[in-house]
Amino acid sequence: MQTPKVLFICLGNICRSPTAEAVFRARAEQAGLNVIIDSAGTSGWHIGEAPDQRSIEAGEARGYNFKGQASRKVIRADFGEFDYILAMDDQNMRALEEICPESYLSRLGLFLDYANDGATREVPDPYYGGGDGFTRVLDLIEQASDGLIAALKT
Ligand code: 4NP
Repeated sequence: MQTPKVLFICLGNICRSPTAEAVFRARAEQAGLNVIIDSAGTSGWHIGEAPDQRSIEAGEARGYNFKGQASRKVIRADFGEFDYILAMDDQNMRALEEICPESYLSRLGLFLDYANDGATREVPDPYYGGGDGFTRVLDLIEQASDGLIAALKT
């Protein structure tokens, strides 16, 4: 099998999708899964910035590594490049659907559809919220990461 390529998408590419990138990289490696991972935002509001300090602190407390990450905006070429383009919420899913070439629409999905509980389909935006929003983001992303790893291993 060719190495699968996964792109995580949120709005700013400084909170949720960088967390997904860090968590999924660590867990895939632990599971012995070879995969190419990146993240991007549907907005260009934070291009070039490192992940949000609150995301880094919450993630590092669980042992994840955010080094080398810098915010970028999703580009048209991403749709042909990545096999799985996974949005953190419906708003970002719709933004992707608007710019994705029709032949690649099947590559789009909601990341949390890989979590076993299936009840929560969106990773809530923690940017303007209180402190526990970032640990909630981690909880949801860890579950979905394990589901995606299981799906890629079959
Ligand atoms: P993210 O969070 O989409 O998870 O990176 C946000 C980051 C920045 C903004 C909104 C959400 N913002 O409005 O600047």
